[in-house]
Amino acid sequence: MELPIGYRLRAPRERDAAAVAAVVVAHDIADFGEPDFSEHDLVDDWERPRFELERDAWVLVGPTGRLVGYAFVWQAEPGTQFEADAFVVPEYGGRGLGGRLVDLIEARALEIASESTSTVVTLGMYASSANTAKRDLLVRRGFAPVQTRLRLTVDLARRETDVAPASEIVVREFDQARDEDAVREVMDEAFLGRARYSRRRLDEWLDLRVRHPAFDPRLWRVAVVETVGDHDSRAEEVVGAILVYDVGGTGYVSSVGVRDPWRRQGVGQMLLAEAFGALRDRGQMRVVVEVDAQDATGARRLYERVGMRVSEEHDWFEKRLPARP
Ligand SMILES: CC(C)(COP(=O)(O)OP(=O)(O)OC[C@H]1O[C@@H](n2cnc3c(N)ncnc32)[C@H](O)[C@@H]1OP(=O)(O)O)[C@@H](O)C(=O)NCCC(=O)NCCS
Repeated sequence: MELPIGYRLRAPRERDAAAVAAVVVAHDIADFGEPDFSEHDLVDDWERPRFELERDAWVLVGPTGRLVGYAFVWQAEPGTQFEADAFVVPEYGGRGLGGRLVDLIEARALEIASESTSTVVTLGMYASSANTAKRDLLVRRGFAPVQTRLRLTVDLARRETDVAPASEIVVREFDQARDEDAVREVMDEAFLGRARYSRRRLDEWLDLRVRHPAFDPRLWRVAVVETVGDHDSRAEEVVGAILVYDVGGTGYVSSVGVRDPWRRQGVGQMLLAEAFGALRDRGQMRVVVEVDAQDATGARRLYERVGMRVSEEHDWFEKRLPARP
């Protein structure tokens, strides 16, 4: 498929980050009236393992020299699971540009997959409920929605968060040297077994969380209990954690996890209340979180209980690619 006259494609360069983030933001504003993406998030995406900016991403330059489109593909699980996205600035829609980006994504995923022995190869990307053009395009290309992700938001200026009464559990600031391994275990336990969450994936994801340009350990919280061992020795056990960022004009709860035996005792609510308090102290009143609509552990109810409301809905569209026999 040819590009319309005057448009050209090239690999992004590091110095394009602000212009590329602007493309994603324009897309968000068209869908929901406000952005939830920043240059920091883009840099975080480009840091992913196995991702090569020169080969796995493209920018679309319009006739005036402005960046009007961006796409990437990432092998989330080597050779077998690919995740991608494609964005076209809304004024440039209806010219077949999105279709061209999806072609590039698919071709690159097939090229990488052909180097592996995987027999099942999937390619997925999100499309919001508001973006009918993208949804229609994906369906025409053989993708189907398989999962829904909700984005919930709260304005802390309008809401006081009650902290659930503490039992033997104490919530304190995250200390990277002391708590990183324990937080990894909590998150493994919380998320392993879900679609698209492997141990490798979780490990890589947590590595990226602590390298994110906006990572600030003073915003993360852990829930701990004190255990008493032999001879009255005391140790702390981390039973839950919340990973929080202050990015752009938004506080972002990246994840909350509570170890199985400690669930349904108000720990999740305490962690959220403490995180909201930390964000409020910085003057950050808008907080966003994402959750799988089908989540079986009641995460959505937890967020709604602390005052968050669904503001966006995104479907994960997936397609099986022809793997090598
Ligand atoms: C979602 C999750 C963080 C909730 O943690 P939690 O500590 O169990 O949360 P809470 O205890 O505050 O609330 C959970 C439920 O326990 C209930 N509860 C709270 N205190 C209680 C108590 N003392 N006695 C009985 N029930 C209680 C709450 O009312 C709530 O019930 P409901 O969902 O049926 O309405 C946890 O289940 C988890 O780690 N899930 C996997 C990871 C995940 O999905 N994270 C969210 C996406 S990032």
